[in-house]
Amino acid sequence: MKLIQLFAFLAALLALTVEGHAAPGKTIANLNKAYRGESNAGYRYEQFAKKAESEGYAQVAKLFRAAAKAEGIHRDSHKAAIIRMGGKPDEFALDDVKVGATKENLAAAIKGETYERDVMYPEFLKAAKEDQASPAIRTFTYALAAETEHAKLYQEALNTLGNNHVTSIYVCPVCGYTVTALPDRRCPVCATAKEKFIVFE
Ligand SMILES: [Fe+2]
Ligand SMILES: [Fe+2]
Repeated sequence: MKLIQLFAFLAALLALTVEGHAAPGKTIANLNKAYRGESNAGYRYEQFAKKAESEGYAQVAKLFRAAAKAEGIHRDSHKAAIIRMGGKPDEFALDDVKVGATKENLAAAIKGETYERDVMYPEFLKAAKEDQASPAIRTFTYALAAETEHAKLYQEALNTLGNNHVTSIYVCPVCGYTVTALPDRRCPVCATAKEKFIVFE
């Protein structure tokens, strides 16, 4: 075998051994889109939390803060997956946030979460499975489960705005799963012990 052929062979072998499959360019691009989306969502929810606080909606502010924490967990988990798969996390400035009244902010949040739940993450997950990209499959699965809960919690908050049931909110530190009642023992999505959940009182 000529030297150049040997190099080509080794390069192909290396590409195949990164997470056990061919280089998944599409999945890395999707991870970067999700990384950016989660970065912006977390930032947006922090602003929405301040607005809810100023309007006297303490429970809604708590929900925005808990969800912001979860989006931060997804942001970091997507970033780690990009690096593990041999990609490079994009650099970007956060988008300006359009802060409205809390009612509008909740509606905007529901729209974003619904898109992620019904369109974005299912598509990204399908592509990651085709790429057999296990770090991406894991982090997209985590995010999809959490965004589904966020959409539900935001909808409930909007339905009862002004009369929101006061409750603690719990966030799984590994997958961002967000709930108003702790699981019996472990996170139903990633099996983290319930004692490790982050509590928003
Ligand atoms: Fe979310
Ligand atoms: Fe979890």
